Amino acid sequence: MAPRATMISAIMLCLFAATTVIAEDPYVYYTWNVSYGTISPLGVSQQAILINDQFPGPEINCSSNNNIVVNVFNNIDEPLLFTWHGIQLRKNSWQDGTPGTMCPIQPGTNYTYKFQVKDQIGSYFYYPTIGLQRIAGGIGGLRIFSRLLIPVPYPDPEDEYWFLIGDWYAKSHKALQQTLDNGDSLGMPDGVLINGQTARLDGRDKSLYTMKEGKTYKLRICNIGSKTSLNFRIQGHPMTLVETEGSHTVQNTYESLDVHVGQCFTVLITANQEPRDYVAVASTRFSTYFLDGKALISYEGSNKSASMFLPHAPITWFWSLNQFKTFRWNLTASAARPNPQGSYHYGQINITRTIKLVNSISADSGKLRYAINGVSHVDPETPLKLAEYYGVADKVFKYNIISDHPADYISKITVAPNVINATYRDFVEIIFENPTMSVQSYNLDGFSFFLVGMEAGRWSPDKRENYNLLDAVSRHTVQVFPNSWSAVLLTFDNCGMWNLRSENVENRYLGQQMYISILSPEKSNRDEYNLPVTQQICGIVKDMPVPPEQYH
Ligand SMILES: *[C@@H]1O[C@H](CO)[C@@H](O)[C@H](O)[C@H]1NC(C)=O
Ligand SMILES: *[C@@H]1O[C@H](CO)[C@@H](O)[C@H](O)[C@H]1NC(C)=O
Ligand SMILES: *[C@@H]1O[C@H](CO)[C@@H](O)[C@H](O)[C@H]1NC(C)=O
Ligand SMILES: *[C@@H]1O[C@H](CO)[C@@H](O)[C@H](O)[C@H]1NC(C)=O
Ligand SMILES: *[C@@H]1O[C@H](CO)[C@@H](O)[C@H](O)[C@H]1NC(C)=O
Ligand SMILES: *[C@@H]1O[C@H](CO)[C@@H](O)[C@H](O)[C@H]1NC(C)=O
Ligand SMILES: *[C@@H]1O[C@H](CO)[C@@H](O)[C@H](O)[C@H]1NC(C)=O
Repeated sequence: MAPRATMISAIMLCLFAATTVIAEDPYVYYTWNVSYGTISPLGVSQQAILINDQFPGPEINCSSNNNIVVNVFNNIDEPLLFTWHGIQLRKNSWQDGTPGTMCPIQPGTNYTYKFQVKDQIGSYFYYPTIGLQRIAGGIGGLRIFSRLLIPVPYPDPEDEYWFLIGDWYAKSHKALQQTLDNGDSLGMPDGVLINGQTARLDGRDKSLYTMKEGKTYKLRICNIGSKTSLNFRIQGHPMTLVETEGSHTVQNTYESLDVHVGQCFTVLITANQEPRDYVAVASTRFSTYFLDGKALISYEGSNKSASMFLPHAPITWFWSLNQFKTFRWNLTASAARPNPQGSYHYGQINITRTIKLVNSISADSGKLRYAINGVSHVDPETPLKLAEYYGVADKVFKYNIISDHPADYISKITVAPNVINATYRDFVEIIFENPTMSVQSYNLDGFSFFLVGMEAGRWSPDKRENYNLLDAVSRHTVQVFPNSWSAVLLTFDNCGMWNLRSENVENRYLGQQMYISILSPEKSNRDEYNLPVTQQICGIVKDMPVPPEQYH
């Protein structure tokens, strides 16, 4: 069946009166039919989640400040929500697509997301958030171009290509969810895919992309997998890093890049090698298993096959740490707005709050759980944001059951909704400490943060002396190496209920996530939009009268 994507990109002035979208900016429309389908990327037939019959899902393509409208028809047999990974949704956590902010789209029904990609550029992706659905597909790229008048710090490439890389299980998400519900771990994945497939290098692979000799191409690389950090490289083609999760970077060149789960990089490569096929490889890092995914890139007019010598991945994690230290913000490049990125001097602002978050694992009574500061999150039936808005938060969850400064060793785990509140516009430092043996990867919705430090061992206040307070990259997903810490700085300048989560699907499903609530002190809709009139209502607030306009 032909894809049913109806994508009309049009400038529509003042058609929508909804407060959630700003009328002057152009609109981009998508219609998604989400269904199950059978795929066999690793040679075994399995059920996957398709969007308009596609796996990976269709791309969302737009420019800074566009309004995105996605009408999602749920034709699978489970409730469904999509999150827009890295999109800040200013004042609008109503559209964040996490179980703490929205009621799920029930099977057989549709819901229309409306959000603006305000002041953002770069490579992102979207994915389903309920249960383990993400492990089965429903994921696709989201790219935001700069507005025409804003200079981009590199010449226009000839074309651009997605590399959505990720580990993959050859089982349905329901079977895998059963494993976790039984108290066990998912164990190792079965392979690594690049854009939903992997080349077999048996002479019969079709090439993924074709380049013209001498031209430069932009690659958008995201690790959309479930648990494994990957190293990405292309035979004979070093990559010039130009953007990371919304920030233009200093343009260093790399033979390979470590991409942790949930992270994205935009790079340039030039087709300046002998015309033949080349292999792009994404292989596992920091794991006890070795798996790789491959894709062929060819040169136009050539049919010479690729060399069988594949470049190796680096081995130590120090290599990865050192690579991280080379990622720098380009202070003089324009951001999504016509001002230099470095005009915001984050290093000179006083920290008003330090929040230390320590992850832990427990297997009490044989059941695996993961926690942050001793609390293993569960989603209540009533979304946290709705409970708060209707004034019945106390019936659904308690704020601040974790401390900002957890004990050195966390032995006991409490299973409960994990929500903290915070003051609007506070400038905060979040320390992620990982006392376990596996790499962690965290995303915070609603914000990007300056990733200022990362070291082995435990964090202490004197570590601040080593922070990069000048040109750290502002991004949305941070890795935390085994027995190490990472530190980020950000301003809580976006009111809403925001999910902070492990990007490792197993960890998140079993509790390694939480929410941060930031309310408008003046209850002003300059700070946060009102509940959209089209919002679905569920749980204990379902039949309650809609509160009078909370914000004015
Ligand atoms: C959605 O996809 C399913 C499965 O391919 C199909 O049965 C159904 O008719 C589609 N619905 C629409 C509205 O296209
Ligand atoms: C993607 O969006 C950009 C900017 O909005 C536009 O110039 C381009 O034509 C779009 N490409 C596709 C394939 O829709
Ligand atoms: C469901 O889709 C129909 C048809 O496109 C649309 O008119 C309606 O607004 C959608 N409903 C929701 C809740 O988005
Ligand atoms: C930073 O951006 C500026 C302005 O676009 C550009 O001229 C410069 O080459 C970039 N610097 C580096 C080191 O990438
Ligand atoms: C491949 O290239 C060779 C040499 O240029 C040519 O003889 C042959 O027909 C080509 N094969 C295909 C399948 O294009
Ligand atoms: C930051 O804190 C220092 C020391 O407490 C104080 O002297 C300074 O005025 C503060 N700066 C700002 C911008 O508040
Ligand atoms: C956080 O919630 C508590 C309990 O509801 C409240 O007393 C406190 O004022 C809130 N703090 C902020 C910063 O909103």
